[in-house]
Amino acid sequence: MLYRLLFVVFRMRELTRAPGFFRTLGIETSCDETGLCLLEGPRTVLAEVLTSQIEEHAPYGGVIPEMASRRHQEMFLPLLKELLRRGKITDPSREIDLIAVTRGPGLMGALLVGVLSAKGLAQGWNLPLLGVNHLEGHIFANVLHSPDLEPPFLNLVVSGGHTEIVLVREYGSYEMLGRTRDDAAGEAYDKVAKMLDLGYPGGPKVDALAERGNPRAFELPVPLGNSPEIAFSFSGLKTAMLWKIEALKKENPSALPLEDLCASFQRAAVASLVGKVRLAMKATGLFRVAVSGGVAANRGLRRELGAIPGARIYLPPPALCTDNAAMVAAAGYNGYMRGCRGSLDLSPDPGMVLA
Ligand code: KG4
Ligand code: ZN
Repeated sequence: MLYRLLFVVFRMRELTRAPGFFRTLGIETSCDETGLCLLEGPRTVLAEVLTSQIEEHAPYGGVIPEMASRRHQEMFLPLLKELLRRGKITDPSREIDLIAVTRGPGLMGALLVGVLSAKGLAQGWNLPLLGVNHLEGHIFANVLHSPDLEPPFLNLVVSGGHTEIVLVREYGSYEMLGRTRDDAAGEAYDKVAKMLDLGYPGGPKVDALAERGNPRAFELPVPLGNSPEIAFSFSGLKTAMLWKIEALKKENPSALPLEDLCASFQRAAVASLVGKVRLAMKATGLFRVAVSGGVAANRGLRRELGAIPGARIYLPPPALCTDNAAMVAAAGYNGYMRGCRGSLDLSPDPGMVLA
């Protein structure tokens, strides 16, 4: 107890500002969003700027890594200037306390832009620097939004690159309960949208069409539906969709039942996600479940999770579901307050794992 107290006092002496007023500059460039945020304390966003490259990548049906890095590079300084203007920061070295940057996982070239820029700023402004795991960032999207959320809880991360259930024992202590064996949920949504010529990113489009369709129109397999394992797999469902679409095209090439196809796919995908959340709740005895990542915006998923008996579901607003810098700043702030420290040796880690 005494040791803990001394440790806290020692750490407080290091801080230039009280924790509630401590300012973190968050930087996110792991994929196709360039985001910067100025966070005060654990959850007050003073200013935020974000640009998405989705429209530029859309004609190619996915993110082109080289193009993503170039755009991050072009956007970084104009966005930083705008952030400082909006945050009324005139002397960053005195008015900012920490720089937190996404270190991985993500695209190497894209991460490099964020990490190298952060190192330059940390050096120039003489500020501490901390590398953040992007997935921990997604977990902190919920912490930002829900002040009452306290560990231990389960976090379902569902994005274009990840599908996993993490046990958050306490902040900084995570256990991976299960992850996808192949595609991520968002990736499967995007591929199904491509099969149906709906454009990229397909998740929101499939979701919108599914709302108007019959989820029982086509029987599709619920991935690992009968398995007691906490794991995901979307490649079989994707192939089943492809065969169904091909068969329907042969019957009538000019009129695909888009709404029913999307609704049937969504029923199977959501049933798999929700089924594994139920298993994780049973295995851990935890009833608090936070959801994050782009697919957390899915209406079917939100509805079905809300129907799990006894579960308390935490869902961030759509802007915090997709990649953003506020979640990176929040994870960085929390890490720094826990005593994590970084250095100018920081380098990106595209395959970084959480646990
Ligand atoms: O978290 P995110 O912005 O980026 C990654 O880190 O991957 O997630 C993007 C993914 C895309 O695959 C997109 O299609 C999917 O989230 N997504 C959705 C919905 N909104 C975004 N998938 C299903 N339903 C949605 N409403
Ligand atoms: Zn993400």
